Amino acid sequence: MTIVYDNSKNRRSRERIKGRRTLNMAKKTKTVFVCQECGYESPTWMGQCICGAWNSFVEEKAASSPKEDDRRRTTGSARPMQLSQVGTREYKRVDTHIGELNRVLGGGLVKGSLVLISGEPGIGKSTIIIQTASNIAVHGKRVLYVSGEESDEQIKMRADRVCGKIPENLFVLPETNLENVEVACENIKPEFLIIDSIQTMYSGEIDSAPGSVSQVRACGNKLMKIGKTGNIPIFIVAHVTKSGELAGPKTVEHLVDCVLNFGGERDQELRILRSFKNRFGTTSEIGAFMMTESGLEEVADISGTFLEGKTEETEGSVTAAIYEGSRPVMFEVQALVTPANIGFARRTAVGADNTRLSMILAVLEKKAGLQLINQDVYVNIVGGLRPEGTSVDLAVALAIYSSLKNTAAAVRTLAIGELGLTGDLRAVQNADKIVREAARMGYERVLLPASNKRNMKEEPGGCRVIGIKNIRDAIRTFSSR
Ligand code: TYD
Ligand code: MG
Repeated sequence: MTIVYDNSKNRRSRERIKGRRTLNMAKKTKTVFVCQECGYESPTWMGQCICGAWNSFVEEKAASSPKEDDRRRTTGSARPMQLSQVGTREYKRVDTHIGELNRVLGGGLVKGSLVLISGEPGIGKSTIIIQTASNIAVHGKRVLYVSGEESDEQIKMRADRVCGKIPENLFVLPETNLENVEVACENIKPEFLIIDSIQTMYSGEIDSAPGSVSQVRACGNKLMKIGKTGNIPIFIVAHVTKSGELAGPKTVEHLVDCVLNFGGERDQELRILRSFKNRFGTTSEIGAFMMTESGLEEVADISGTFLEGKTEETEGSVTAAIYEGSRPVMFEVQALVTPANIGFARRTAVGADNTRLSMILAVLEKKAGLQLINQDVYVNIVGGLRPEGTSVDLAVALAIYSSLKNTAAAVRTLAIGELGLTGDLRAVQNADKIVREAARMGYERVLLPASNKRNMKEEPGGCRVIGIKNIRDAIRTFSSR
């Protein structure tokens, strides 16, 4: 007897698989999966990216890399120059006629530069931009405002509110296709271009959706070409994610000249413009604005604004200062210490660094002998400011002490200094300028690190400057006259 195997089924399925394979090969266009948070590329889909983001991968067409030959040709022709022989030139700057914005930009808008302005939705990016646009247009320059978010009527309504008479040189273009924007630029030849926002723009040459990493990258590159060839300064608006990250636009951060962040609390009026990257100025300057009925108004006396409402010393409140760019900024640090109910005590900081707060609490326990283990501690920097650096340490420590002991400072006091783990105070920069500002604001006493006091050349009248060695010393001085 011979056994006959019926292979037809197997054969059929083999053929089916083969067919599928050839079909796949024919269809194959090179795609990659790109993390929309950080721009990381992976050949396969991943649930979590190396940056930690979950479910952030989107399939996009792979950018074609230049062929080996092309690369050789481009690099081969480049002739290195002796750096000493390279000429320098004065950057031509366009005055925005907004002092605070000029200051953050490093003295005005540099021609041909790309400026990324980021911020949460609704913070006032479009407002500051229409005001800038109108100011520049009033002074005879042609300005093109490209909006992918709002219609021309909406832009007009806002402009009516904030600009007064709208200058003739201000053009709007509601458009999301970047190739059309290019054509518009060739026609109008603007001297200042605004793109609101990069997440809504797309280039027809790329398949992916607007706002995706490849689109943002492609649009960024195109805009750079427009800016550099026409010597046009360009403002690019970018939205940030909830956590304050630039997300997609992070991929263009390296090619723009300047990254500004517009921040503040939406329910408060104060807005702070800060620069994170600036090829034509410092990054430590901040600009302060108030959001009013008729747009953004500049705030000249920034310390006065932050200290509004603090007219006398109360427990749990201490004035601190930081030096931002070219001016001191004073603000109030508040602390509330209450007995904890059950379990772990809560430690919460708003505007200050949480890790730094834990450290300060540990130093207060160990070096100043305060009992804080069973206390909830809340620290808040009033006015929505997020001071960077460590010079705010002393004020935080004193505010906690003041709330714990229910004692206010004896006289109007400002405190600055970095707290070390040993309980010693370390010097801060620009202390003399902060002291001068404190005297101007009517403070009677400044507590600062002893090393700062030693280097101080002159003391302003009406304000005592007291050098402090360590945290014990600071606490003793704080409540004495
Ligand atoms: P907008 O510039 O549209 O924000 P963004 O472009 O950053 O999304 O401004 C948003 C908010 O500002 C809006 O909620 C209303 C407020 N606003 C004022 O209070 N006064 C004004 O004059 C304008 C134009 C806006
Ligand atoms: Mg807007």
